[in-house]
Amino acid sequence: MEKSRPHNPSLIHVLVLLCFMTMFSTGSSFGVNWGTMSTHQLPPEKVVKMLKENGCKKLKLFEYDEKILGALIGSDIEVMLAIPNYMLQMMSVDPSFAAAWVDTNVTGYRYTGGVNVKYIAVGNEPFLQTYNHTYVRHVLPALRNIHEALHRAQLSSKVKVTVPFNADIYYSPSSNPVPSSGDFRPEVRDAAIEIIHFLYINDSPFTVNIYPFLSLYQNPNFPFDFAFFDGTNAPLRDGGRVYTNVFDANFDTLVSALSKAGYSDMEILVGEVGWPTDGDKNANIKNAQRFNQGLLRHALSGNGTPARKGLINVYLFSLIDENAKSIDPGNFERHWGLFEYDGKPKYQLDLSGSEKDTGLVPVEGVSYMPRRWCILNPKMHDLTDLGDNIDYACSLSDCTALGYGSSCNGLSLQGNASYAFNMYYQMNDQHIWNCDFMGLATVTENDPSSDACQFPVMIVSGDSTSRDRGLLDTLFRHYLWLVVFSVIL
Ligand SMILES: *[C@@H]1O[C@H](CO)[C@@H](O)[C@H](O)[C@H]1NC(C)=O
Ligand SMILES: *[C@@H]1O[C@H](CO)[C@@H](O)[C@H](O)[C@H]1NC(C)=O
Ligand SMILES: *[C@@H]1O[C@H](CO)[C@@H](O)[C@H](O)[C@H]1NC(C)=O
Repeated sequence: MEKSRPHNPSLIHVLVLLCFMTMFSTGSSFGVNWGTMSTHQLPPEKVVKMLKENGCKKLKLFEYDEKILGALIGSDIEVMLAIPNYMLQMMSVDPSFAAAWVDTNVTGYRYTGGVNVKYIAVGNEPFLQTYNHTYVRHVLPALRNIHEALHRAQLSSKVKVTVPFNADIYYSPSSNPVPSSGDFRPEVRDAAIEIIHFLYINDSPFTVNIYPFLSLYQNPNFPFDFAFFDGTNAPLRDGGRVYTNVFDANFDTLVSALSKAGYSDMEILVGEVGWPTDGDKNANIKNAQRFNQGLLRHALSGNGTPARKGLINVYLFSLIDENAKSIDPGNFERHWGLFEYDGKPKYQLDLSGSEKDTGLVPVEGVSYMPRRWCILNPKMHDLTDLGDNIDYACSLSDCTALGYGSSCNGLSLQGNASYAFNMYYQMNDQHIWNCDFMGLATVTENDPSSDACQFPVMIVSGDSTSRDRGLLDTLFRHYLWLVVFSVIL
């Protein structure tokens, strides 16, 4: 096609410029983590549509999910797909296990017009201290086997491996607590550096999760403003560098640790970063908006951190609230979403990182269950068994909004009971037999919510099990009528 070659230099300029702009626009977008530990999932196609409408170009998934991957086909959204920790041991000892995983869960989608899987995250914070080193020795062999499988599938140049680490694998000593003195913790240093070396020679990034919220949560003396991005009266000075936020200080501690190990130009992705909106005194809409908006502006500005200039690659944690997550770390754990369980944005956020407020688009066309709630029957006066019934309802649902500092903390004992009964009832798909509690509870069509404290009505879950449950509900009603009739007869 000799004739169509662009000879005109200005055309070349335009092409180069266009190409640069495309690179820039993908490079400067942010990512989000889409966790799915909820009792009621939004339909993946509707969530993917919302992601596109919000200009989100990067996604991180904690596990392969056929419906989500299916919904992403043809979307062009770049995906980081994780292998959960429980699979690491098998992956590490059995290359064919790793190969089968890659074949089915990656190669099967990585065709033109398929899903743009760009990274495989091998494990999730596998060095976390609470895991007692259970996974430490499996990570590198698993990483090798996955990389080898990608290589055999001729994907290793397009799909990169990485390991999302918890930020406490590095530290700066208390004798000199500044970023430039950062290093890996002695007990994980060798294992971490072996992994880093493998990633480095394979042109793969280092991934770290950074949580300023947890710095504040774990340390009551932590300077509040230092958790955010809008300046502080008491910045941290490190030689000629000035730190006004803990995110940069943390990031640069990692940069120092990597430099000391000989990997000063290692690419870094921030795999998780965010702020919850409920379940703790510092977890609210105002702080979450302040943090996330500040973070996005900062990350996309190109200013970088004092030790490393340029765009910062971040994956926000998280997309949607997850009402079935473990609350071992704290009640806030179920409230990290930018969006509520039903796909409504909790607050406005300009995702382009610029000043103009474009706002978040919600998930559209969400179906809710009928507008009815389960509450404490106001006619009941003997409340002897109330405590036990609240505990029971809460243990099998989600009462994280009731605790100290949370959105529904001001309720009376009766209010607590209604909240607990309703959560149990909603999370169990509003079956009539789930609103009894020894006769203490009753169904109402009057919304018991106040502005601050929401009594949710669940969405109709996309999966078939809830439709089956709906059928069961109908059968149960018929069965009840049968019982009534047989009693009459
Ligand atoms: C694909 O991933 C899922 C979820 O992690 C896993 O259960 C399944 O075994 C994987 N497929 C193969 C063939 O390994
Ligand atoms: C970790 O080790 C401690 C002490 O040996 C033990 O009590 C705890 O149950 C272990 N945790 C896990 C997750 O294995
Ligand atoms: C309501 O429940 C919360 C969380 O369990 C508790 O802290 C609070 O004291 C309860 N309120 C009353 C009036 O019992």
